[in-house]
Amino acid sequence: LANVNFDTTSFPALKNDLYLRTARGEETERAPVWCMRQAGRYLPEFRAIRVENKFFKVCRTPALATEVTLQPLRRYATLLDAAIIFCDILVIPQAMGLEVQLVPGKGPHFPEPLRTPDDLARLVDLKPGFSVDAELDYLYKALTNTRHALDGQVPLLGFVGAPWTLMAYMIEGGGSKTLALAKTWLFAHRSAAHELLARVADVAAQFLIGQVRSGAQALQVFESWAGELGPQDFTEFSLPYLALIAARVKAVFPDVPMTVFARGAHYALEQLATDTLYDVISLDWTIDPRAARRRVDTALASRTNGVPRSVVLQGNLDPTVLLGDEHVIRERTAEMCQAFGSSRHIANLGHGMMPSHDPERLRVFLEAVHQSSADLRQQ
Ligand code: CP3
Repeated sequence: LANVNFDTTSFPALKNDLYLRTARGEETERAPVWCMRQAGRYLPEFRAIRVENKFFKVCRTPALATEVTLQPLRRYATLLDAAIIFCDILVIPQAMGLEVQLVPGKGPHFPEPLRTPDDLARLVDLKPGFSVDAELDYLYKALTNTRHALDGQVPLLGFVGAPWTLMAYMIEGGGSKTLALAKTWLFAHRSAAHELLARVADVAAQFLIGQVRSGAQALQVFESWAGELGPQDFTEFSLPYLALIAARVKAVFPDVPMTVFARGAHYALEQLATDTLYDVISLDWTIDPRAARRRVDTALASRTNGVPRSVVLQGNLDPTVLLGDEHVIRERTAEMCQAFGSSRHIANLGHGMMPSHDPERLRVFLEAVHQSSADLRQQ
């Protein structure tokens, strides 16, 4: 592995700014493309690193995190328009004092999750001397080093998990079908739920600000479990904290593009557009892009308060389409690009790459985006 470089005072010039221009709402020559979980177990070169290194060791070792972040950028070269730093949303619960293990084949596991509001006393974020920046400095170093190693090939994205999704993991202790334990807090311990959400939001906002200072050029917030909430509970327990995080980051870095991915939150498209400062709304594959574009534009047009704003959409091919034949992947990708239209679209999957994906099928998707979205602009 190459030497590390933690100098944050100067970075290599950016050669491909298509993602940044599109995220800022500019007309561009084609849709930029990247994929959630583009670094991960579907890549043999990632699995080779994981043989010798535990998951969180990769996250905590800047040279390893850089290597893994760059793997898809090497393999797909000019086909990818962004890099996302290799890390996980669960590093915030870890920093707040909870142990998180990654059990092979089972996913994340918290040996001692939060069970009752009294357990909030176990979190360390309000203890004297606690510092988000000190706890998560390893990720800052990973970002700085990766930004140098990218040598301006594409912009580097930072990210966090959103408060409701992180709260759900902290209480459930791992994945769950119904989120019954976490949702118990919403209805039986409502003020403790808000306290936890506010504390996580505070850490997340500070963490994103630190990520930009360290080299992140755009940011994404993952509310992966938004779809478990209905509209009323999303409005109370998710939206205000998503909005708060964007407002806090934008107050410091108004020009850094921010994306929100509220997976499953169909009903919240208008609210995300009008009541938050996110530049980009990322869609899962269950939303029709034409309907999403129309709803977002209508909601923004009828908004009478605040500065005029435009929202870019990201997504949204069903990741399982990549399990299909090449011609199906090309056809479905072309249809997707057409449905989003010839501007304000960042191409992506509707959720992350899966371990069973064939890397060559991802290449077909990336090539198809380049082709179809450039064709759309010629018409
Ligand atoms: O997108 C990227 O390439 C950057 C890295 C990244 C990872 N996780 C790496 C990872 C990102 C952005 C995440 C986000 C994340 N993590 C989310 C939000 C996005 C989503 O999927 O909805 C969530 C819910 C998690 C929690 C998490 N971490 C789960 C459920 C798992 C295990 C299951 C799985 O999909 O692999 C992880 C572990 C994890 N995070 C892996 C990777 C590559 C696999 C770990 C391994 O090497 O064994």
